[in-house]
Amino acid sequence: MLPGRSLIEPGDFTLEELNYLFSLSQKIEADKTFLRESCRGRLLATLFFEPSTRTRLSFEAAMLRLGGSCLGFAESSSSSAAKGESLSDTIRTVSCYADAIVMRNPKEGAALLASRVTAIPVINAGDGGHHHPTQTLTDLLTIKRLHGRLENFTIGFCGDLKFGRTVHSLAKTLSRYPGISQVFISPPELKVPDYITRSILEKKQACREAEKLEDVIGGLDVLYMTRVQRERFFNEEDYIRLKDFYVLTREKMAAAKDDMIVLHPLPRVNEIAVEVDDDPRAAYFKQARYGMYVRMALLASILGVAPC
Ligand code: CP
Repeated sequence: MLPGRSLIEPGDFTLEELNYLFSLSQKIEADKTFLRESCRGRLLATLFFEPSTRTRLSFEAAMLRLGGSCLGFAESSSSSAAKGESLSDTIRTVSCYADAIVMRNPKEGAALLASRVTAIPVINAGDGGHHHPTQTLTDLLTIKRLHGRLENFTIGFCGDLKFGRTVHSLAKTLSRYPGISQVFISPPELKVPDYITRSILEKKQACREAEKLEDVIGGLDVLYMTRVQRERFFNEEDYIRLKDFYVLTREKMAAAKDDMIVLHPLPRVNEIAVEVDDDPRAAYFKQARYGMYVRMALLASILGVAPC
């Protein structure tokens, strides 16, 4: 179904293909021997022009657990990009060595450009404030595993909805599932881009905006907290003014449903108090773990070693 395919934004895959990946992830999680040596002899290049902990390491863990190997760089300063090499030339070169590329780049559209100059699959691990499709796979798998469904629920996105690429990717994807109501909770300066709300409304799905988390938390099934993205601000003053606009505390959690789950793509800075980690509804570290299983499923699929 997916051999040889690139993943630049979540809309590249049909809902059927997404479901296939979630089923495969569950099989991999349940049976540690399943697909264990399936990628032996294959090489994954991880090209990170921006910092990452979860995405890079979960991809590398995924490839190693499938029996494959990894090569790459974790910062652009250690690649020839620092000497002025173009992205196209870097991708053409890496394509001579690897079977697939995972790339994070600060420029929107960089992953799409990369996919156009190579015949091997390119996976977008984040392009500026645009998309982060494998975080969306992670988020959907987590919701499916913990709530048992990907339909008929209310999700609140809270924090930096302007620059948060994980929000953009997930919100657009959720609008493809039935009965999902989306609440965007942010200060006016960090509101979700209009093109996201437009795409939801065009599909006749529900969405609305709010400023105070306390006003809406009681109606949510999923609360998706996000970090204020310091690296995308034009000035430090604005960042300092907005960085602690929302802090999820035990007191605020008291008003939430008993089965609401709290997600966060991580890293967190201060937006979820550490005291919330002990709440059984806090699911962000489980989410990080599911991210590895879904990336194993993705790599096995695009490298053509997964069952059809
Ligand atoms: N969620 C996420 O993209 O985390 P990293 O920046 O650590 O990869």
